[in-house]
Parts: sequence; C-alpha cells; structure tokens
Amino acid sequence: MNRMPHHTRLKQLDALLVETQSLWQPQPFKKARPEWCNLYPKLNQALLDLDESSLAHYAANNEALITFISSYIPQLAEIPSLIELPATTQKQQREIDSRLNAGIPGRKWQQITSLYQSIENPGCAITEWCGGKGYLGRLLCKQWQQPVTTLEYQQSLVEAGAALAEKYQLKQQFKKVDVLNAPVVKQLSNHHTIALHACGDLHRELIRQIIDTKMPSFSIVPCCYHLGRENNYTVFNPDLKLNLSREELRLAVNETVTAHSHEIQKRDQDMAWKLGFQQIWQELSGSSDYHCIKPVTKTWLKDGFKSYCQKLSQREQLPLTDDMDWDYWENRAYQRQHDVMRLQLLRQCFKRVLEVWLIMDMAVYLESHAYSVDIHQFCERSLTPRNILIEGKI
Ligand SMILES: C[S@@+](CC[C@H](N)C(=O)[O-])C[C@H]1O[C@@H](n2cnc3c(N)ncnc32)[C@H](O)[C@@H]1O
Repeated sequence: MNRMPHHTRLKQLDALLVETQSLWQPQPFKKARPEWCNLYPKLNQALLDLDESSLAHYAANNEALITFISSYIPQLAEIPSLIELPATTQKQQREIDSRLNAGIPGRKWQQITSLYQSIENPGCAITEWCGGKGYLGRLLCKQWQQPVTTLEYQQSLVEAGAALAEKYQLKQQFKKVDVLNAPVVKQLSNHHTIALHACGDLHRELIRQIIDTKMPSFSIVPCCYHLGRENNYTVFNPDLKLNLSREELRLAVNETVTAHSHEIQKRDQDMAWKLGFQQIWQELSGSSDYHCIKPVTKTWLKDGFKSYCQKLSQREQLPLTDDMDWDYWENRAYQRQHDVMRLQLLRQCFKRVLEVWLIMDMAVYLESHAYSVDIHQFCERSLTPRNILIEGKI
C-alpha cells in the first residue's frame, strides 16, 4: 500500500499530469486522431483492433486498462501506485435501526451505511453539509445519539427531511441555507461536519470554511468536481503546475456505466449518429473544426439516420445537399464511433489520476493549516465511483 505523504504524492501526480497532457487532454470525440496516435502508432493500432468484448473489459476495468496501455507507454506504469488508496476499516457500530431506510433508494442507503460504518462517532454535534433530505444525518443522529443540523437550500427537501425527523422524534433540525452565499459559521464551529457527495464548489467552499471556523473535525466525500462558478479550477496549493479548465475537470467523473445490452446499443447509436452528423457538418462547411452539438432529444433516434440528420441540419442551420448518400454517411458514422470508443481508452487511464490529484490538493491544503488528514475509500467503486473519504481533525 502506498504510504507516501500526501504532499509527495500530490507533487508526483502533478508532474505526471503535466508531462502527459498531450495524452489525456485531446478528446477523440472532438479530434479524430489526436497527436499521440502518431507518437504511439503501435498503441493506436492495438486500440483500434480491440474487439467488442476486450473493449468492454478495459472500459470496465481500470487496472487492466492501465496495465495494457503501460506496455506501450511505460511512463503510465507508475499510475497504479499513485492512485492506490486504502479502504476504511469497519468501525464498531451499533446495529442499524432497519426502519431508517424507509423511502431511501437502495443504492443510496448502501452508500450511507458504508459511510456510517467507516466513521468513528466524533462525540459532538454534527452538521450535515448540503444534506438533501438528510438521510445520512438521520442515521447518524439515531445511531450516535448526537444532535444533527442539516443544511440544504431546496425548500421541498428541507420540509420532507424535517417531517421525517419529527416522525422519528430525532434531534435533527434542518436549516434552509445557500451555503455558498450565506454565512454558516455558527453552524460549524465546534461541530463535526459531514458531507456526502457535495458537488464541486460545495465541497470546496466547505474546505475553506473548515479553516475559517477552525472546525475540530470533518468527513467529506466530494463529487462532481466540474460543477462550479469558475471556468477554471482554482488550486488550493499555488505551487502546483497543472491548470485545469472546467471541461477538463469532467474527466475525473467520466464513468463508463455498465449498462444493459439494449442501453449499450442506444448509447452507441446516439454517439455514432452525432459523430455522423459531425462529419457531414465538416464536409459541407469545409471546416475541420469540432462543431458543438447541443443534446438531441431521444425521439429523434427513432426515425432513421436520414431523418435525424435532416432535423439536426434545420436546428444547426446547415443546408444539406440533395445527393446525400445516407448509407455511406451512416457507415462512416459507425466507423467513427468504433474508433472513438477505442481511442478514448487512453484518456480513461487518467480519470482516477485527476481525481486523486484533486483530493490531494485539498488534503495538502488542510494539512498546511494544521489538520491531520486521512484519505480512504469508504466503499467499492461499483457502489459509487465517488468513493473517496477525506477525514481530518485539528
Ligand atoms: C448530490 S446532492 C447530495 C445530497 C445528500 N448529501 C446525499 O448524498 O444524498 C447535493 C445537495 O446539495 C444541495 N445544494 C446544492 N447547492 C446548494 C447550496 N448552494 N446550498 C445548500 N445546498 C445546496 C442540493 O439541493 C442537493 O440536495
């Protein structure tokens, strides 16, 4: 297990991401043949030659993918040790009151119980940051017998959560608050704050408030790193070299969902037809630039490729010619989709690298403000890919 200090790991991740930018920044969906295809022709060919089952295997198995690609780009062999994170140990906890999962979707409940089992009772009042209906807060309140304040800005969620807390006669109160714009200091000082799946700016704001309020301890599970007010990511540690746009941040949450075969077929069709129209657009406009196509309603996928392109051409104001060979363009569409699915595997090797870099950026910043910080995985990635828990105390 990699036990290197967080700041050392962050430095190494930063160096790796900067050195390999030409491998993970270009998106094959937008650029048919990124530069690296010429630099690594054997890898390019090996990827294009993958059959469907190998493609599915590598798309679903990040470790196998990194091993496969490292045989062509040895520099990537250092990735596994840099992204390795220990699992949390199961803390001794009281048996969970089974009534508490009422109304909670199964997967969410499993995430909540995994997190609960990973965290020690802090022995003080708890603030639940951006808690939605306060599912997690409810469990902690009941199990630990600690007062919980759930902060959430959607009125309907606040009301639903408060009604449930009353039903179970719990010491859980809800505060309707926009944590990005209203001062919440009073809620935080002397509390343990817990945030499950706080998106982008929400978890970054919490990091700042932890320091401002000298919060004694916290547990944070970040998600959706790309959601935020800025177009570019602002690093917590200014000596880092990597600059990330919001678009690049998306790579950290770019998951290959394991779907049923008919969903895969639909996804492939959607992607192929978009790429097909993209190629027509480039041909007819005489421009090789990527043309950004807004999301397309699913019903357009029902009436054949020709009808789809005709509707899109109206929306995008691209006049089609009368002599379009639709079979030819549809074949090209599927050929592009075949290639994109394979070539984008190289980027996929870096998604966890980027995520761990983001996590370490927060960890090192907190450490520089006297916090002792632990990073663990609190559940399997199959339960939620956003499974990294940052815990700290001063
Ligand atoms: C991804 S959900 C997570 C909810 C809950 N922690 C969970 O894991 O089920 C993020 C929550 O943050 C809330 N939220 C978004 N922006 C907010 C803000 N500025 N202030 C307070 N809550 C906010 C949303 O309404 C939503 O309930």
